[in-house]
Amino acid sequence: MTTRTLLLLPGDGIGPEAMAEVRKIIAYMNAERGAGFTTDEGLVGGCAYDAHGAAISEGDMEKALAADAVLFGAVGGPKWDAVPYEVRPEAGLLRLRKDLKLFANLRPAICYPALASASSLKPELVEGLDILIVRELTGGVYFGEPKEIIDLGNGQKRGIDTQVYDTYEIERIAGVAFELARTRRNRVCSMEKRNVMKSGVLWNQVVTETHKRSYSDVQLDHMLADAGGMQLVRAPKQFDVIVTDNLFGDMLSDVAAMLTGSLGMLPSASLGAPDPKTGKRKALYEPVHGSAPDIAGKGIANPIAMIASFAMCLRYSFNLVEDADRLEQAIAEVLDSGIRTGDIMAEGCRQVGTAEMGDAILTAFRKHY
Ligand code: NAI
Ligand code: MG
Repeated sequence: MTTRTLLLLPGDGIGPEAMAEVRKIIAYMNAERGAGFTTDEGLVGGCAYDAHGAAISEGDMEKALAADAVLFGAVGGPKWDAVPYEVRPEAGLLRLRKDLKLFANLRPAICYPALASASSLKPELVEGLDILIVRELTGGVYFGEPKEIIDLGNGQKRGIDTQVYDTYEIERIAGVAFELARTRRNRVCSMEKRNVMKSGVLWNQVVTETHKRSYSDVQLDHMLADAGGMQLVRAPKQFDVIVTDNLFGDMLSDVAAMLTGSLGMLPSASLGAPDPKTGKRKALYEPVHGSAPDIAGKGIANPIAMIASFAMCLRYSFNLVEDADRLEQAIAEVLDSGIRTGDIMAEGCRQVGTAEMGDAILTAFRKHY
């Protein structure tokens, strides 16, 4: 039997509540579908700081490096607002991204039919929307040097951040985007600002060359990132896969996310490079939302972002594409049936808590086998 290893890092606040619903799905897949998931557990964020004085322990980092995939809940909360900067809860997530070398951040924006009217755009613009933003995550202006504030000595200071991209960084993120497009509608739109940025000129060249060399079967378009932002809210359905750098990707993925409704619905994946021997990629899956201290402990958080993150894990780490499709289908059906957590509640629907939402999705998932 195949063994598939998962490290669960539920974290703080609503993280553990949402993770509990994924645990039910894993248990079902193991017991009745022979999925062979082996799960281990660790601490990350504030709870890890309380236990070890660090946002993630070395032992848990080793487990993360050894696992096929990491499922991450959420970290942080007012309890840890005053802890030193280096060990603040978010440091656990940053350490994971860095040590696992997760350079590709995947943010889908899918509009479930039942929620189309909750979008800030007209329902017809978002109905059936299914786009994927592939954001470069480990390079660019967030990490480039020099990065400092210097005192100019004349009463003025200068803040400096530096956008840096090397060929190999652009090639590998473009490769991820083209490969994902092949499993979707076979289209990639690359976004940069080549009109004003040298790194944008290089980005455009390298994406074009990578396409010509290895992915000419995929349709490639280029757009300036500001125009891309306009197009995303004007006619989002024109896109399939969007590939862009760290900074533009940060903004464009948040814009795309809000086309489809609540934070409680949004999954994400972060992928590393394939291992040359096994072909396996390191990967971390997490909801976009945080620990939601305002609702933590009440059993009312929406677990869909976490469950949809697990669906991405099935698809991208284990190639269990049909199971991933079924799980997403189950989410859509439950929403169609009018079952809602508080954050996505609408007139005429039935409001449920976290566990009841998780159970309803599991029931719908089982029905598909
Ligand atoms: P947040 O995402 O935790 O919450 C924002 C708002 O959305 C809150 O009103 C919350 O109740 C609601 N919300 C979020 N997820 C929900 C869900 N699944 N179901 C229902 N409602 C949901 O962001 P906020 O309030 O800015 O940050 C709270 C804490 O989380 C902070 O300590 C922050 O640093 C941390 N954080 C952690 C992240 C992570 O672990 N990756 C990401 C963002 C924030
Ligand atoms: Mg952001």
